[in-house]
Amino acid sequence: MAAESCKDWVLTVTAQTPTNIAVIKYWGKRDEDLILPINDSISVTLDPHHLCTTTSVAVSPAFTHDRMWLNGKEVSLSGGRYQNCLRELRSRAGDVEGEEKGIKITKKDWEKLHFHIVSYNNFPTAAGLASSAAGLACLVFSLAKLMNVKDDHSRLSAIARQGSGSACRSLYGGFVKWIMGKEQNGSDSIAVQLADEKHWDDLVIIIAVVSSRQKETSSTSGMRETVETSMLIEHRAKEVVPKRIIQMEEAIKNRDFPAFARLTCADSNQFHAVCLDTLPPIFYMNDTSHRIISCVEKWNRFEGTPQVAYTFDAGPNAVLISHNRKAAALLLQRLLFHFPPNSDADLNSYVIGDKTILQDAGIQDMKDIEALAPPPEIKDNIPAQKYRGDVNYFICTRPGRGPVVLTDERRSLINPETGLPK
Ligand code: ADE
Repeated sequence: MAAESCKDWVLTVTAQTPTNIAVIKYWGKRDEDLILPINDSISVTLDPHHLCTTTSVAVSPAFTHDRMWLNGKEVSLSGGRYQNCLRELRSRAGDVEGEEKGIKITKKDWEKLHFHIVSYNNFPTAAGLASSAAGLACLVFSLAKLMNVKDDHSRLSAIARQGSGSACRSLYGGFVKWIMGKEQNGSDSIAVQLADEKHWDDLVIIIAVVSSRQKETSSTSGMRETVETSMLIEHRAKEVVPKRIIQMEEAIKNRDFPAFARLTCADSNQFHAVCLDTLPPIFYMNDTSHRIISCVEKWNRFEGTPQVAYTFDAGPNAVLISHNRKAAALLLQRLLFHFPPNSDADLNSYVIGDKTILQDAGIQDMKDIEALAPPPEIKDNIPAQKYRGDVNYFICTRPGRGPVVLTDERRSLINPETGLPK
């Protein structure tokens, strides 16, 4: 490696990777170390303009050990999951020639070289929005580019899976299936793309980030406890999900929103039912989550055909997928009517992401929220309830693309001279 003679080069790559939301849920592992699931799952990738991770990775002979900075703070890479990803990537690395800097790195050199990794999530990590899915996918994708790993996205997904299960689905845009696989070594537990983001681009997604006072059970321990104690989980994994996967693939292929919505809501509800069937029971949804479900169910019933689907992961946030822009605007009106912001909030930070949905809903300022009329499905004899401040904020987004390399040096998070965070 030219590295030995010239200590001062730093080679970097920057990538951006989306997060994803499962519409057929992953819950339960058959192997804890390799992160192998007990059922297939299907997800929608979210537009990285609104929710993504950006990661810069660097290699230099001057680096003495692997280091990572997450959202501005140095964090440890010693965890088994990070180590598994780094080991897998090093074993697949190829030769690299950095033309301008005259750098030559051979396959063997990667065993001795160290990385600096700098990562930012463009949404609050603590908001419970599957940041580890985007984060681990971005770490694997950017390092694979830096190290000239030739594997395709599906093979990379099997590496990302070992960092965080649902990360494997963030290697693709659009609609993605994580195939559980049968092999003991996990080689066939990979993600595949069912359709890209352009296939069904009418869909609009609104996320309600719900205030939560309760400390949640981590997904890792929650899943373990469910597999150990729930009687329902086996029925779900063996009988229910295999049929739903086939039906969901068909619904996505045909852009059949009623079928898509029915399956998405049913699968979210069953996931929370197996959580309740766990000993001790796990409660991820709270009163606000339940009120959002009621609001959607009432509206869908009133219309006679589904306008919106809901799905909830291991936390109280609602992910609402609407049929089209018109339905999304009507949904946003309903959400803002029932969950208005506290008086000190400003509209710009209460509804973020794609602001055109707010315009379509006819909301220009806070006064417009206060002036919203109760939706017609609310019966006159029951006064419409308002829950001010129970939602922190809303994110309007849509299905989005998979990972990309950012070639503009200005987007790099690493100083190319020092190899440290900018
Ligand atoms: N966990 C949460 N966010 C992450 C990120 N951006 N990179 C690695 N791990 C993460």
